[in-house]
Amino acid sequence: METPNRPDVEDWETDFDHFHVDYSADPYSIWKDMREGGCPVAHTDRFHGVYLPTRHEDISAIAHDTEHFSSKSVIVNDLPVSDIGSFRSPPITSDPPEHQDHRRALLPAFAPKAIEKWIPITRQICNDLLDEFSDSGSCDASADYAQHIPVKVIARMIGIPEEDGDLFRKWVHELLEIGPTNRNVGQQAAREVFDYFGEYLKARRADPRDDIVTYFIETKVDGQPMDDSQILGGLFLLLLAGIDTTWSSIGSSFWHLGQHPKDRRRLASDSTSFDPAVEEFLRFYSPVTMARVITDEVEISGTTLCPGQRVLLPFAAANRDTDFMEDADTFQIDREVNRHSAFGLGIHRCLGSNLARMEIKIALEEWFRRIPEFELTDPKVVTWSSGQVRGPRHIPLQW
Ligand code: HEM
Repeated sequence: METPNRPDVEDWETDFDHFHVDYSADPYSIWKDMREGGCPVAHTDRFHGVYLPTRHEDISAIAHDTEHFSSKSVIVNDLPVSDIGSFRSPPITSDPPEHQDHRRALLPAFAPKAIEKWIPITRQICNDLLDEFSDSGSCDASADYAQHIPVKVIARMIGIPEEDGDLFRKWVHELLEIGPTNRNVGQQAAREVFDYFGEYLKARRADPRDDIVTYFIETKVDGQPMDDSQILGGLFLLLLAGIDTTWSSIGSSFWHLGQHPKDRRRLASDSTSFDPAVEEFLRFYSPVTMARVITDEVEISGTTLCPGQRVLLPFAAANRDTDFMEDADTFQIDREVNRHSAFGLGIHRCLGSNLARMEIKIALEEWFRRIPEFELTDPKVVTWSSGQVRGPRHIPLQW
């Protein structure tokens, strides 16, 4: 299903649209013009009123301020804040004080020690994918490689069949790219996800396994077992948070390397360069923008933010702010100090960061062991996802 065209934008500072094709193609120059052109906090009347800060200082201040900003709706859609409803996927939609307990329930499954177990499995997944095309001299690095890795890993972690990957990607697309501007599609996809997970929940209650569904059944939040809606909300979040985020980061890395032979040669010749490179890919091409609901009037960089509207937190814009980081608008594969905010800032900082870093690094390492030389064939074929998670969806490479 294609993402629909959006009405033209006359003025990005007063009428921006983060679903517009021009924004998906190159948000960086739009943010830079806003930041350096005297409008550090843009606003649009679209989506019932949304603000867009572009300076690191402002994005950080909002992400840390849970008094004026709520996480009860982190995706900007065509519903007014007053109609958000009661659906939650904790901890990402939780506010203090509940947030802490909701987050604590998930932490052990994503701690560095817990992730180690998934390293050999991820290597095997990458090699199985590479077997399909490494001898053919070309592939679509997004469709043939990047998109499958996080789906297969998270499916195994949750305890659901990885063969259902096409279904998960369909839901993610419908929920994050179509749903925000087409309520029916979003609601139908949410129902399908809940029905799907509902079956697994029933099955694991009867027959526990070593997987996250079982882990949720056995975990207590605030001293109480989680009820079905909490468990389903948590599973829903892992599916949404764990797939197109990491897919986008892996994809952006290949998109970059296919056009920058010097950086590609660096990775091909020096195995110690992967760790700093992964951080720089995460910083420079940060895929995730989150939203907050404004609960109380507050001033940010001279703009008064109205309660009841939303604000977007484009972490990628924060990461390219030269007031925050030297040469932030250049890519440096061996950047030594890299305090980026690709995984967010404040209490909601990404719980899956250890898993995501591991997947990106292994996706690159295994690829480079088998295909050290490659290039992008046709930049015009590259398309980018729209909305709040940005990454290339077609990356034609040849070697
Ligand atoms: C490159 C990949 C990823 C990026 C860039 C990313 C980015 C983010 C960001 C920016 C947030 C903050 C949300 C906010 O402030 O509202 C977040 C939260 C979260 N992420 Fe990730 N994420 C990635 C991968 C993953 C993976 C693989 C998982 C797990 C399967 C995951 C699970 C979560 C969860 C559960 C939260 C909510 C934490 C909380 O609210 O306390 N993420 N992520």
